[in-house]
Amino acid sequence: MSVLKVNNLSKNFGGIKAVTEVSLNIEKGEIIGLIGPNGAGKTTLFNLLTGIYTPTSGEIIYDLDKKAYTKDLKPHKITHYGIARTFQNIRLFQNMTVLDNVLMGFHSGLKYSIVSTFFRLPSYYKTEKSTYDEALELLIKFNLLDKKNELAKNLSYGDQRRLEIARALAAKPKILLLDEPAAGMNPKETKELNFLIQWIRETFDLTIILIEHDMSLVMNICERIFVFDYGHLVASGTPLEIQRNERVIKAYLGEEALQC
Ligand SMILES: Nc1ncnc2c1ncn2[C@@H]1O[C@H](COP(=O)(O)OP(=O)(O)O)[C@@H](O)[C@H]1O
Ligand SMILES: [Mg+2]
Repeated sequence: MSVLKVNNLSKNFGGIKAVTEVSLNIEKGEIIGLIGPNGAGKTTLFNLLTGIYTPTSGEIIYDLDKKAYTKDLKPHKITHYGIARTFQNIRLFQNMTVLDNVLMGFHSGLKYSIVSTFFRLPSYYKTEKSTYDEALELLIKFNLLDKKNELAKNLSYGDQRRLEIARALAAKPKILLLDEPAAGMNPKETKELNFLIQWIRETFDLTIILIEHDMSLVMNICERIFVFDYGHLVASGTPLEIQRNERVIKAYLGEEALQC
């Protein structure tokens, strides 16, 4: 079952063609890898998928049943359709605690209205209480509970990256986009991330798309890989197919890929 479809999508910035005529189809439950050199258009594709940029041309269909197209969707609406993300440059509320960062992630999904919040009706407390409990549960799952009162800025790099994923999950997405989740992590943290990503896919019934330069991570956990170069989708396939693709080896992977 398809959960996301992109048709002939392009994004230009003045004369720069960041994404050119990209078409792809993502199936429910897949872990997809986006790879390619810096400047290939990978993050721009995420920014298009999350409504930060509007396409120059082409379309994104989020929910094939409801036919929700990108053209008139703002980012909060896209969250509503079940897409959440992390950022290449970590974007946490640095001066807020770990727990408050996760609580902020629930914001888009909260069930009470402004009126009931104002008058503090029971539904407010009920939602708030269960939200609080769910936030603690997420922190337990991400091994961050003992740091719940620390400011985000005081966490290690690896912990910050994991906190950002926890916050994204609080919005209860169907599709999770991770932009270079292993960047800045040490080998031990990267190995843990490997298991964490597979575990969250199972536990939260997710489809995951990740941009990553760490080839052992990508080749280990992705079922399909899309390769970008100068804004074009130049190859797609299983990890094995990608590792054997002459064009990909020449343009990006180099000889070391053959040893993965
Ligand atoms: N907001 C922007 N304004 C102008 N150019 C941009 C903008 N965002 C990205 N680009 C350009 O688009 C191209 C693709 O960038 P990006 O999507 O960040 O690549 P990647 O994530 O694959 O490294 C680059 O040439 C980059 O400079
Ligand atoms: Mg990028």
